[in-house]
Amino acid sequence: MPRNLWEVYNLLSDEEFRVLRAIERFQAKYEYVPAELVEKAAGLPPSKLAKAIYTLSNLKLIRRRLGNLSGYTLTYMGLDVLALRNFVARGVIKELGDKIGVGKEGDVYIALAPGDYRVVVKFHRAGRESFRKIRKHRSYALDLRATTWLALAKLVGEREFKALVALEREGAKVPEPIAWNRHAVVQRYVEGVELHMIRELRYEEAVKVLLDSLETLRIAYTRVGIVHGDLSEYNILVKVEGEVEAFIIDWPQYVYKDEPNAEELLRRDVSYLLRFLKRRFGVEADLEEAIKYVKGDRDEPPI
Ligand SMILES: Nc1ncnc2c1ncn2[C@@H]1O[C@H](COP(=O)(O)OP(=O)(O)OP(=O)(O)O)[C@@H](O)[C@H]1O
Ligand SMILES: [Mg+2]
Repeated sequence: MPRNLWEVYNLLSDEEFRVLRAIERFQAKYEYVPAELVEKAAGLPPSKLAKAIYTLSNLKLIRRRLGNLSGYTLTYMGLDVLALRNFVARGVIKELGDKIGVGKEGDVYIALAPGDYRVVVKFHRAGRESFRKIRKHRSYALDLRATTWLALAKLVGEREFKALVALEREGAKVPEPIAWNRHAVVQRYVEGVELHMIRELRYEEAVKVLLDSLETLRIAYTRVGIVHGDLSEYNILVKVEGEVEAFIIDWPQYVYKDEPNAEELLRRDVSYLLRFLKRRFGVEADLEEAIKYVKGDRDEPPI
């Protein structure tokens, strides 16, 4: 049995990919896509189709339902290999490595791009958790009526990619976006440590983390028009080699600044950041002044 996603991916033949794509095509309309439709769309002779279906179910890339409304449905892993196929075909990545994060919202892998630099592939999972979060945010909710997990996962991927593109263009310290396909986003690997794992920093270094983070939030608010909405010490990566630099990751739940809950989320983001840096590193800055700075109502940083 294959041990990881990359091994699964490499086992698959063109015919098996055709079957996956055939199921995906109708997935928006059917929870379980009827076998006849898959047969037609895949255009394979029955014996080959049966073999492909068998392999795909064994590898847990599709699920089969028997009975009256029989048919096939993609699993998240099925969607993952389709996105991988696209990234490999476009020359975005050449090899997928280890999983470096299993979040509530996605699986994050390290990967190698042609040219041997490291990237991160994030496969979004629009699971129950994100549904709940999303319900709270209008910007998602608008697109949410009568949609499927698949459509939602893709929407989340698109949101993250587009947010990163806009933020990076405006000079914010975020991972550089490289590609997006379906529910998956490829971004530059940030050589850093999650802020919550850092126990020791000199005072000036902790101040730099604060300044970098506030500047990114300010660019997001004033030039892109968005609020992160889920900022915490888990979504800040700190480069500790050479000069300290802080990057803010994990943007798909952002809200536009004119949405009704934007103010509240901005206040929460900034206060989490200040509270953490104060508790752990003794860095003190005034919350109201920090919020003003982020909103562009004041030009001097609050420290
Ligand atoms: N560009 C990147 N460079 C380096 N590491 C990254 C990058 N993106 C994500 N990671 C790592 O993967 C972890 C999870 O990523 P991210 O926060 O984007 O996903 P998530 O699904 O929201 O996870 P969670 O729900 O746990 O917050 C991060 O905490 C970080 O350690
Ligand atoms: Mg995260």
